Amino acid sequence: MTRQTILILDFGSQYTQLIARRVRESKVFSKIIPYNTPASEIAALNPKGLILSGGPASVVDKKSPYPDKGIFKLGVPILGICYGMQAICEMLGGKVKHTREREYGKVELFVDDNRDLFSHMPGNFTCWASHGDYVTKMPAGFHTSAHTTNTPIAAISNQKKKIFAVQFHPEVTHTEKGSQILSNFLFKSCGCLSRWTMQSFIKEAIANIKITVGKDKMVLGLSGGVDSSVAALLIHKAIGKNSRCIFIDNGLLRKGEAEQIKTVFKNLYHLNLSYVDRSKRFLERLKGITNPEEKRKIIGDEFVKVFEEEAKKIKGVKFLGQGTLYPDVIESISPTGGPSRKIKSHHNVGGLPAHMHLKLIEPLRELFKDEAREIGRQLGLPENIILRQPFPGPGLAVRIIGEITRERLELLREADKRVIEEISKAGLYEQIWQSFAILLPIKSVGIMGDQRTYENVAALRCVSSFDGMTADWVKLPYEVMERISNRIINEVKGINRVVYDISSKPPATIEWE
Ligand code: XMP
Repeated sequence: MTRQTILILDFGSQYTQLIARRVRESKVFSKIIPYNTPASEIAALNPKGLILSGGPASVVDKKSPYPDKGIFKLGVPILGICYGMQAICEMLGGKVKHTREREYGKVELFVDDNRDLFSHMPGNFTCWASHGDYVTKMPAGFHTSAHTTNTPIAAISNQKKKIFAVQFHPEVTHTEKGSQILSNFLFKSCGCLSRWTMQSFIKEAIANIKITVGKDKMVLGLSGGVDSSVAALLIHKAIGKNSRCIFIDNGLLRKGEAEQIKTVFKNLYHLNLSYVDRSKRFLERLKGITNPEEKRKIIGDEFVKVFEEEAKKIKGVKFLGQGTLYPDVIESISPTGGPSRKIKSHHNVGGLPAHMHLKLIEPLRELFKDEAREIGRQLGLPENIILRQPFPGPGLAVRIIGEITRERLELLREADKRVIEEISKAGLYEQIWQSFAILLPIKSVGIMGDQRTYENVAALRCVSSFDGMTADWVKLPYEVMERISNRIINEVKGINRVVYDISSKPPATIEWE
């Protein structure tokens, strides 16, 4: 069965990925492509519909970005959102004006034509707007389908050509009927069927892996994080004993982590898993190192070496499995110049050298994180792995400020365990992006019983985030902070003070190093 696809032309909106997710929530596959993709390439992808995203540019500027005008001749339904609407109007002979009065935030929308996008909708509802440019004249063949008090032309349509556009953002949850508007476009205008389900994805992915890998062998570095775990399970389902996983213990893991991974993947799923404890080697190389970049470099370097050594032991291995997700591969060109692909270069600790000559298998590269989690669930992965907070490749090394020693690692493990336990007990673990402890390189004076102490300080960091690129510190309830602090100070010998990190990203980063 061929896959029905909605293509989203990315004009650089912060909401582009959200559009893609909303479409997929309606069980229709969507893909983000650069705004200037040639119409011939778009036609070759055989889309059921096109969505032109919003973006930071203004069509009033001479250098504003436009799609290939050939898209209007493809006979494929088009929906323009915000900047996408303005670009459509400008290209098809309408007029757009810039005014100083921005329409921003929640605005009441009045429906003028309740067919197509606004089918089965109330006469008015709240929408989310963010624009300074307004359409003042529609192109020929279009009519107004909605307005707001300040924007007489807030939505337009050309029924004959199936081109629609809205000045507001239906993808944002503040727009009350937003998902209904998108569904109307997908199902009424594009004729899509709800077929993109995680069950259908699993079936397709397994069949594809079988065809690609055949009787060859694949090796994958398992970290215990949700991405590599789901990828490992999916590949294992497809090729069974020819899939080999390597879990490297670098000595920088949290308490109980190695055991948990061995139990789940070896005993529960019977994966062909090699557990290699190289903690001695990693810690030896990290001796005396205090510079964060040097720490990262050593760990990344050592990881590659160990992985290579272990992979070489597998005779005839030809493929390398990885849990790469869609946000890391979206290829887009920023309309304001330069590539906008976000590359977290320092995060690619698992990046392996080309001389290994392994072909990549990335079964999750079309999925968003929540979809990968759903696949994990369907494959029966335990919730504590599916909902695990992100953990950096260099592990506790970037949470011990200063030199890393076994003793300091042990202290941090004990403190961290209590943070996770208390955050979980308070029901906050899954709401928070990350919650962890950091061991500081200073000591402070305290008093315990009649004894004066001079011990370590631990910092507590709890952040909320959507993708790790920006983050806010969490306003934890005082009682939760109190319990964490009491438990660490009373139960972890060697720490006598706990402080809370109240910095957001930017300018601070989530990890301290
Ligand atoms: P920062 O500290 O840059 O972190 O604000 C953003 C997110 O990335 C994680 N992180 C890493 N993940 N290898 C990883 O796999 C790394 O070297 C690494 N450094 C940071 C961090 O935990 C946060 O979720």
